[in-house]
Amino acid sequence: MSMMIVSAVVLVIIAWVYTRWKQVRHYWAKRRVPYLPPHPLLGSLTFLQKENPALWMRRVYEHFKEPYVGIWLFWRPALIINSTEIARNILTPSDANLFRNRFVTSGNTDPMGKYNIFAVKDPLWSRIRRCLTVLFTGSRLRALQNIITAKSKELVQRIEKDRQKTKFVDIRVIFTDFTTDIIGVACFGVANDATLTGDSALRSITKKLMSYSPFRALSWCSAFFFPELIDILRLKVIPTDCTESLRKILRNIIAQRGGYETKVTESKDLVDILLKMKQEGDDEDVDMNEDILLAQVVAFLQAGFDTTATTITFAIYELAYNPDIQDKLLKELQKAKEEHGDNILEIQVLSQLKYLNAVIDETLRKYPQLGWLDRTATVDYKIDDHLTITAGTPVYVNAVGMHYNPDYYPEPDRFNPDRFLPENVGNIKPFTYMPFGEGPRSCIGKRFGLYKSRTSVAAIILNYEVRPIANTPRPSEVELEKNGLFLSPGEVLYVEFIPRN
Ligand code: HEM
Repeated sequence: MSMMIVSAVVLVIIAWVYTRWKQVRHYWAKRRVPYLPPHPLLGSLTFLQKENPALWMRRVYEHFKEPYVGIWLFWRPALIINSTEIARNILTPSDANLFRNRFVTSGNTDPMGKYNIFAVKDPLWSRIRRCLTVLFTGSRLRALQNIITAKSKELVQRIEKDRQKTKFVDIRVIFTDFTTDIIGVACFGVANDATLTGDSALRSITKKLMSYSPFRALSWCSAFFFPELIDILRLKVIPTDCTESLRKILRNIIAQRGGYETKVTESKDLVDILLKMKQEGDDEDVDMNEDILLAQVVAFLQAGFDTTATTITFAIYELAYNPDIQDKLLKELQKAKEEHGDNILEIQVLSQLKYLNAVIDETLRKYPQLGWLDRTATVDYKIDDHLTITAGTPVYVNAVGMHYNPDYYPEPDRFNPDRFLPENVGNIKPFTYMPFGEGPRSCIGKRFGLYKSRTSVAAIILNYEVRPIANTPRPSEVELEKNGLFLSPGEVLYVEFIPRN
């Protein structure tokens, strides 16, 4: 008897799973949306841990050449947007108010993943974003100028030190030392010494944040594609020891500044801004507990060190393989040096250097850190006359696909900064270039990231000729990280630095 009951239950479960799977499988076909046939378990996510997601996005774009493509995150339908017009509607203010949230999130058991500005949902996001925006205003960046300039000079010294030890300088490591020092000042107002020494308290944390473990990979993939798993498996996007070390740093600095009650008169760094945000929250009865504050530290550290270090890495690597472009850049920098002397690394001066800016812009076209821009609508949303998506459907604007579309960027695999010179930039179609995203949820650190990239590349090229090392891959053959979600190198990149005088 009991055997019969078990068999009946199993049959019912199988029938339910089968019926559900049929519904899932036909979801996009029923709506006449071109789609990638889903895997019964993973949906369209069969590429995870096998291929860099940006490469996958690019392949989808090139394969379908359709305004949108239906995919599945496991069994959850989602939509990739390849059309610039639809991207504009979703990302820019007219409809962006309906798309204020990303799909990425975390669970209640992971406050660092759930409350950080990248993942947090409206209305808390609006409040946090409004407070944090002031960190990178023009005047704040000018205040950071001295430290960024000093660190760029230290970077030049560090290269000399490493160069004397070995011809093979791992460029991503030294650029990460550099960006970690700078984000340390921007967040905590504390100077670190990793650029010169390769180590510091904060650098130990960023080293851990960069290291791979299957638990971390599962945590990140869940946060991006299957957030329900976070609480079930008690996953954490930031390792607990990193969170606790950052908590200690944050508590110490707040105590040094007189505690949460001390009125903040001037916002020098992220901690000051967080204190202000907490005080405003208390006044208006909005909970801004320590975890919410710490989650912003985590977000700024994570977003601030790796994105920029990777951008500088790819820029220097491309320059090593493109000597003509490097020469052109050097000439521009030398001319600026004659004119401005030691002030050449100042924000105002660098922002005028058209070729330098074009080199960084082209680097970000070829290597956008995030291949896609993720959003969800708060209401059912009409994509076009044929398709309305239900509220909550994840939508991915295929930024990397557009960056490599030969109609927008002829010979897309060629590193060609001329595309971004002022005389050509008018040819770039809106919403085909989105390395920092677009609209209200675009990158808050754009100007900061650009400035750090420009300063370091300028300082390096003024002081060193960079050359490729024999038997290293050409830029377009560099293996990309398979285990991560961002577009970063999956192998160590070396160049040779030859002093200019
Ligand atoms: C070259 C360097 C960088 C690149 C390529 C980059 C790229 C991006 C992209 C593509 C997004 C998503 C935008 C969207 O969905 O529309 C983003 C968001 C963000 N970035 Fe950056 N980023 C860089 C540097 C930085 C830096 C230095 C910081 C801070 C220190 C930062 C902080 C953030 C934050 C907080 C968000 C989330 C904004 C929000 O949701 O309100 N980024 N970034």
